[in-house]
Amino acid sequence: MILQAYLHGVHAGNFIQDAAGIFFEYADGYDVAIPVSISLPRFGMAGLGRRGRAQRRIVENFLWGLLPDNPRRLEAIARDPNFGGPCSPNSVMQLIRKVGADCAGALQIVAPEDVDQIVRDGGADPLTEEQIAQNLTHVITTGSVPGSGEHPGAFSLPGAQPKIALLNKDDRWFQPWGSVPSTHIFKPAAMNLEGLVENEHLCLETAAEMGLTTTCSKIAHFGEHVVIVVERYDRVFDGDSVLRVHQEDMCQALGLHPGQKYESDGGPGIAQIDSVLIGSRRAQDDRLAFMKAIIFNFLIEGTDAHAKNYSILHGERGFRLAPLYDIASFLPYHDGRNPRMPMRIADKREYGDVALRHWRQLAKKVRMDEDRLVDALWEMAHQLPDAMAAVVRRCHLAGLKAPILDKVLDGVAARCADQLRLWKLDPVGQNEP
Ligand SMILES: Nc1ncnc2c1ncn2[C@@H]1O[C@H](COP(=O)(O)OP(=O)(O)OP(=O)(O)O)[C@@H](O)[C@H]1O
Ligand SMILES: [Mg+2]
Repeated sequence: MILQAYLHGVHAGNFIQDAAGIFFEYADGYDVAIPVSISLPRFGMAGLGRRGRAQRRIVENFLWGLLPDNPRRLEAIARDPNFGGPCSPNSVMQLIRKVGADCAGALQIVAPEDVDQIVRDGGADPLTEEQIAQNLTHVITTGSVPGSGEHPGAFSLPGAQPKIALLNKDDRWFQPWGSVPSTHIFKPAAMNLEGLVENEHLCLETAAEMGLTTTCSKIAHFGEHVVIVVERYDRVFDGDSVLRVHQEDMCQALGLHPGQKYESDGGPGIAQIDSVLIGSRRAQDDRLAFMKAIIFNFLIEGTDAHAKNYSILHGERGFRLAPLYDIASFLPYHDGRNPRMPMRIADKREYGDVALRHWRQLAKKVRMDEDRLVDALWEMAHQLPDAMAAVVRRCHLAGLKAPILDKVLDGVAARCADQLRLWKLDPVGQNEP
């Protein structure tokens, strides 16, 4: 089986499955500087076989990384009679064939016979608010993605939560298909975590208030659904049309399977992600921004800040750290236990075990100036409660009054005060445990 990969509408290469597995070959004429993934480099793959065939496992991991990382959702997509008919939930090629028309980043992955309809042709069908509500109900109840069999490929985004991707133009919503990309992601409220969408919106806005680069979000209602609508940072407007910008997450960049997104599952830790960012076009800025994101997530108890929640954006002149997305505080859902961090700070796995000296150890490990990291830590713990309070006030003024906003704020303010108290007991962070 062959699937063709198009990047920005240009044929970049082919994913080919044979008896030994899946491999990837760049197309002979592909002369754009942007790779499909930094784990699948265009040059320098000596030893990996004829014409730079990448290691099969990395290729397969990359493809799984484009799909939802929730088995229930994969099974639902596999069962869906639309988009080419049912397939096996274990075949990453067949799954991508069904939903690879609009992926994260600039990739469209399609069967050769679908290229005309998906890459060369495209359009967008207007949607009413009721239709958007129906689409949301569809993804929540079936786990698949909305759409008819009319167009041969749907959209795919990773993550565990159900979601849809739509195009916004002139303040109206459209279901895009083929070459026309989506511009926004809609994530409906989760069943099990009260107010998660408002929580995420608050944390994103607060991170922006603290000077971090984040994705823009808003809370919206469609029928019975409350959703967080996030602007896609992997899209840019060029006059009247929307262009895709390539991105990949840190599991993909490191050649890892999405099942390894948490460090405790064998996934990357802070130092490994930092080592990716050393290759960034603005390495110093991006490494510092990443470290500030780690501090922010530490202070809000962002238990979900795993390697698939950090991405890089590719450009002709190299890559940069993508804006922050999918951040939320676990504090309102605490059951009194000491929760596990998504990535270790020094050798510590749980929030309650981290002291100032562990941040110093982390700074050493990533060869960052220790005092600079510790200064950033103090500064953020001092400023975060006020920044979040300002955002909560703005939300209230805008009519967003979900009780979770104050719960998150109270939790974060208390946690910052606790950390500051702890650090003051050992201001140089050198006491042995
Ligand atoms: N604003 C955005 N612009 C572009 N891509 C995005 C944006 N937000 C999310 N993505 C992409 O979509 C994927 C899924 O989004 P997100 O992380 O918000 O979903 P999730 O289901 O809540 O994830 P998780 O499993 O981490 O809880 C991300 O991993 C990223 O690749
Ligand atoms: Mg996520």
